Amino acid sequence: MSMLDVASIKKDFPILSKKMRNDGKLIYLDSGATSQKPNIVLEAERRFYSEHNAAVHRGAHLLAEEASEAYEGARATVAKFIGADVEEVVFTKSATESINLIAYSFGNSLPGSRFALQPGDRIVLSEMEHHANLIPWQQLAKRTGAEITWFPVTDQGRLDLSDIDSIISTKTKIVAITHQSNVLGTINPLEALVKRTHDVGAVFVLDACQSVPHFAVDVKKLGIDFLAFSGHKALGPTGVGIFWGKFEHLQSMEPFLTGGSMIESVTMTDATWAPAPRKFEAGVPNMAQAVGLAAALDYLTKIGMDKVEAHEHALTKYALEKFSTLRDVSIIGPTNTQMRGGVISFTIEGIHPHDAGQVLDQHGIAVRTGHHCAWPLMRKMHVVGTTRASFYIYNDTSDIDALIDGIEYAQKYFKV
Ligand code: ALA
Repeated sequence: MSMLDVASIKKDFPILSKKMRNDGKLIYLDSGATSQKPNIVLEAERRFYSEHNAAVHRGAHLLAEEASEAYEGARATVAKFIGADVEEVVFTKSATESINLIAYSFGNSLPGSRFALQPGDRIVLSEMEHHANLIPWQQLAKRTGAEITWFPVTDQGRLDLSDIDSIISTKTKIVAITHQSNVLGTINPLEALVKRTHDVGAVFVLDACQSVPHFAVDVKKLGIDFLAFSGHKALGPTGVGIFWGKFEHLQSMEPFLTGGSMIESVTMTDATWAPAPRKFEAGVPNMAQAVGLAAALDYLTKIGMDKVEAHEHALTKYALEKFSTLRDVSIIGPTNTQMRGGVISFTIEGIHPHDAGQVLDQHGIAVRTGHHCAWPLMRKMHVVGTTRASFYIYNDTSDIDALIDGIEYAQKYFKV
């Protein structure tokens, strides 16, 4: 069924041959939390430190030149991967930092600026947002007097857009929505959202943490204004995230973090900023991590994002069919493959998600359990938490079969 040669892909990931409890094998179904890393990424980081390590954009020596070339080369790779211009790509430490960057930058805007918020302005979110795309906006609203409004989620785990024209109103300044829910797997219909956002003169921020690693995302084709994603969910290292913004916005935005390397000139009482993207990269950046992320994106490009998407789609279809045969197991989210990615959250009647996770772990199956940093969504779906399996290129149907067997074992173990 698969379009990918999973057996050979698995060999690229050293951790996948780790022996788990009782000498069992690892069945890694937690890529929504963080992905595993191929050798090529580990090697890229190692090579950066062993051959080129120096602080980028400073220093006149050969290593500084090589490090800067590697770092700027990584920026170009990221830009190509998401269809952006190179000067629109900013390295941060995480997607969380990227979203905070936008929120703090807007908060730092002088009155009268396009990005300054006033009491009564609206920030529009959705009930399926991860805390990282919720709390920074709540804080910005508190600091500025803006109001938070949101799209509700239906029982089927889709965004309810029936009131789109009143939810995104002329008072709206920012719409910040996830591309794919980290809990439900739902992929949101961006076209209508982006159109309405721009019709009222607002900007659209896309949380792409669960989309960029899994299917082709082109920022220009989507017509969005800002995007954030994390390196570690896209086969890259931890400690590197991406903030992308349209260059015209970046030019007029205020910086978030200030300090070395982001300046044009400095006196004892004032400073002016370097052009974007450097204006947003204060301090010595996470250079090896940026280089590692570029290696990860090259690896994904070599496989082909269309194939990555088709593979995960086939796995999700297979998994949904298998889940439908299970007794007393409910999927929290869409039960068909339409506009849906490879993340399946579920509850097992009579078994707390943490207990389910522990029993699955006894069989080497790594899943995530709990509220998944999405408390409002948990409340809306009337669950305390879920067990979540999330798929990637190194998973195949045998991993799903093991999960299904593990769930049935848990039901026997807890006698439910
Ligand atoms: N945001 C990550 C997840 O959904 C950690 O698991």
